Amino acid sequence: MKKKALNIDHIEEAGENAAGGKTHTFQPKTGALIVFEGPEGSGKSTQLERLIKYFKKKKAKTVLLREPGGTVISEKIRSIILDRAHTNMSEKTELLLYIACRAQIIAEKINKLLDEGYTILQDRFYLATIVYQGYARGIDRKWIDELNRFAMGGLKEDLTIIYDVTLAEAKKRMKKRAKTDRLDEEAAEFHTKVRDGYLKEAKKMDNCIVISTDNKDVDSVFKETIYHLERKGFI
Ligand SMILES: Nc1ncnc2c1ncn2[C@@H]1O[C@H](COP(=O)(O)OP(=O)(O)O)[C@@H](O)[C@H]1O
Ligand SMILES: [Mg+2]
Repeated sequence: MKKKALNIDHIEEAGENAAGGKTHTFQPKTGALIVFEGPEGSGKSTQLERLIKYFKKKKAKTVLLREPGGTVISEKIRSIILDRAHTNMSEKTELLLYIACRAQIIAEKINKLLDEGYTILQDRFYLATIVYQGYARGIDRKWIDELNRFAMGGLKEDLTIIYDVTLAEAKKRMKKRAKTDRLDEEAAEFHTKVRDGYLKEAKKMDNCIVISTDNKDVDSVFKETIYHLERKGFI
């Protein structure tokens, strides 16, 4: 949701009669930004594919977004980051490029979609930078926070759902996906840093739900996700 001065035009009362000490909630008419996070193999893409179908059945105004998000500029920035020839790219440059990519998708897409009342299902966002560039790569947190804040310009997510997965379970899943039989030591250590980062950050966030996915099939995780989205008023 974009930061806005509280304006009565933008809110409506959900309950019919809020008087008499009854609890009542206010439902913003502007859109909602729901962010999905978690380590590789936690099941974000799998769940999001199902969720977008579910949302579309219920209401039309939902979009699935993932950085670089299909903006021409962001795609170009992303291709610089991912170019295998750029082996000498510094970690600072990489961080700045991710932030640039985010700034563009916010300016070009997210802000407009929220103004038009869309519910955005976002596959990873600023928390991924904190976890990957900060916890895993070791870049000083203060820069990451400042740069994220600069790119976001007051934008705040409405809810974050983190899918948690242990290293052992992620390994099993990735084997199936990539048809490779090993996740090397470095990747294992990296996973642990990423996972710990997500779990630590989750404790500090106000509107964040962690769903553990080990030993749960895709259906169970989906039902749990829907339960939380309903409980929070997004469905
Ligand atoms: N709950 C689950 N149980 C078992 N396998 C799963 C589960 N969720 C996803 N997978 C499988 O794990 C792999 C990684 O899932 P994916 O959705 O691509 O994860 P992410 O997008 O978080 O990296 C895929 O092969 C997917 O089919
Ligand atoms: Mg994915």
